[in-house]
Amino acid sequence: MSHAVHPVPEHFSARIGPDELAKLRRFADEDPDGFWLEQARRLDWSRFPTRTGEWSFGQADFHIRWYEDGQLNLSVNCLDRHLATRGDRPALIFEPDQPGAGRAWTYRELTQETCRFANLLRRQGIGRGDRVMIYMPMIPEAAAAMLACARIGAVHSVVFGGFSPESLAGRIDDCGARAVITADQGVRGGKVIPLKANVDAALAMSSGIETVIVVTRTGADVPMHDGRDISYSAVRDSLEIEAEPEAMDAEDPLFILYTSGSTGKPKGLVHTVGGYSVWAATTFDWIFGAEDSDVFWCTADIGWITGHSYVVYGPLLNGATSVMFDGVPNYPDFGRLWETCDRLGVTIFYTAPTAIRALMREGEAPVKAHSRQSIRLLGTVGEPINPEAWEWYYHVVGDGRCPIVDTWWQTETGGILISPFPGATDLKPGSATLPLPGVRTVLVDSEHQELHGAASGNLCLAASWPAQARTIWGDDDRFFQTYFSAYPGMYFTADGCRRDEDGYHWITGRVDDVINVSGHRIGTAEVESALVEHKSVAEAAVVPVPHDIKGQAIHAFVTLNAGTEGDDGLKAELNAEVRKHIGALAIPEHIQFAPALPKTRSGKIMRRILRKIAEGELSSLGDTSTLADPGVVDQLVAGRSG
Ligand code: PRX
Repeated sequence: MSHAVHPVPEHFSARIGPDELAKLRRFADEDPDGFWLEQARRLDWSRFPTRTGEWSFGQADFHIRWYEDGQLNLSVNCLDRHLATRGDRPALIFEPDQPGAGRAWTYRELTQETCRFANLLRRQGIGRGDRVMIYMPMIPEAAAAMLACARIGAVHSVVFGGFSPESLAGRIDDCGARAVITADQGVRGGKVIPLKANVDAALAMSSGIETVIVVTRTGADVPMHDGRDISYSAVRDSLEIEAEPEAMDAEDPLFILYTSGSTGKPKGLVHTVGGYSVWAATTFDWIFGAEDSDVFWCTADIGWITGHSYVVYGPLLNGATSVMFDGVPNYPDFGRLWETCDRLGVTIFYTAPTAIRALMREGEAPVKAHSRQSIRLLGTVGEPINPEAWEWYYHVVGDGRCPIVDTWWQTETGGILISPFPGATDLKPGSATLPLPGVRTVLVDSEHQELHGAASGNLCLAASWPAQARTIWGDDDRFFQTYFSAYPGMYFTADGCRRDEDGYHWITGRVDDVINVSGHRIGTAEVESALVEHKSVAEAAVVPVPHDIKGQAIHAFVTLNAGTEGDDGLKAELNAEVRKHIGALAIPEHIQFAPALPKTRSGKIMRRILRKIAEGELSSLGDTSTLADPGVVDQLVAGRSG
């Protein structure tokens, strides 16, 4: 464990220093309503709210509402209100797979493009409350599509382009979407992603989609279905560049984003207009504090919550310049990120630990080949960062000049909840440091006791915050059961956490059946049900194993039907099964054929033991005497290398 403490670098300039932060914390504690209304003042409301947070996490009276009597439009806040002062400044800088082949979109251009999309959606009969899927590459039109939905009050659901047609179909059916916005193809790392073909395949498996809008990215000749598919480039010039924004109630749904949990199919988390917007604006300003001269680059895809909050909404709400990157860190070579930082003059750079570890393995040369002098602040998100990777990021990438903000949050939290303030917080490598003002973290033990002082336990939140997810689309009960039943009166994050003597938080990872592979959340149950779809598979159990670069990887134990032999051919078929049902991102690192799985006498699979076997921790398997057949363990240990 690293015990280094890095104070705020002497020359780092920030609006919020230690005194301002202490004042903010006092404000939040002493006058919560005043504090939350103050944050709401960051936005333009057509009706300013008089109310702030009203919630109960108890089952009888469960509700979460923020700024309920307020009215606003998110796209107006991201776009129109900046036009007078920033119309010609870049809102988005598009950086495609091919270095330097992109261009910047000004606030005016983005506003006009958003209005065109809004008018097209309206022309297709889409309006307030309708659900629209977005399945697109990281191109500015994708941001315009999201903003267009926000403008007309439609609810967007962005699906990462790496998900399979079947995953997309499941999400379409789950939320009852009426339209899909996609592109002909994507290109990443030199490889083509057949987005439109995937949409066609998804629509053959789902129902309800009346309109498919296809943006031209590569210009490939993709099949178009008459009466359903519209080529955006063919109609673009006929669309007006102004569109009346819908006045939305603060608690109207803004978007649905699907994420994996312990059980069953992905959950469509619902975020609402008012609270989400306030928190995206507030946290972006607090943590990144971008000024007009800054160029902010968050490498996340818009298919994840990080892309929603810190590629699109947070930066645009603050009138900042945000880079949209449609490439990968190792294409054309391992210097790509730093070459791009130099070329675009990136000042704030935000990425995932997995990318840092992958680059670290390539050594310092690809980093040192580029100047990186423009960078003044670094950030990480998505998974715990090991102190070694933190130090490398700090010293090699940042030349010891730039603070690192390790930001902890979740799809469910909508925005950052635990993070340093770069101008005010001493850093400890590997710690996300302290909860933000107004955020009340609590650690609890398995006996439901709240822990005080330095302690390790399960991380919960004792109070709501504006961007808290409101429900799971169509399943209020599942929402309550998943997050509020384990520790009554609190939101349970499903993360473990250690709090040290300074109150610093050290996230230790998920305590549920979610595997964090390269910062992507994958549910064990989803992978298991994909594997058992194969005709030769009798049973499957999936556990995480530590991985040097990905953080965690998937280890699958697979029991075959009698008479079937496991071999490499079958492993390839099983991988294909996972790719088909979920997407390539969920393909197991290891598949181990197992004669049987360790089960209790009541038939429950003992995952704790499987995890130890997968990790090779054979000396600490624990008590195996409760197993129905303890001999199974020896067979699995013997088969581990196989
Ligand atoms: O386990 C935590 C981990 O990522 C989970 C949330 O994943 P997702 O909803 O996909 O959102 C990722 C981007 C916000 C959390 O439950 N996680 C996220 N950030 C950190 C983290 N673990 C440790 N440190 C972080 N900074």
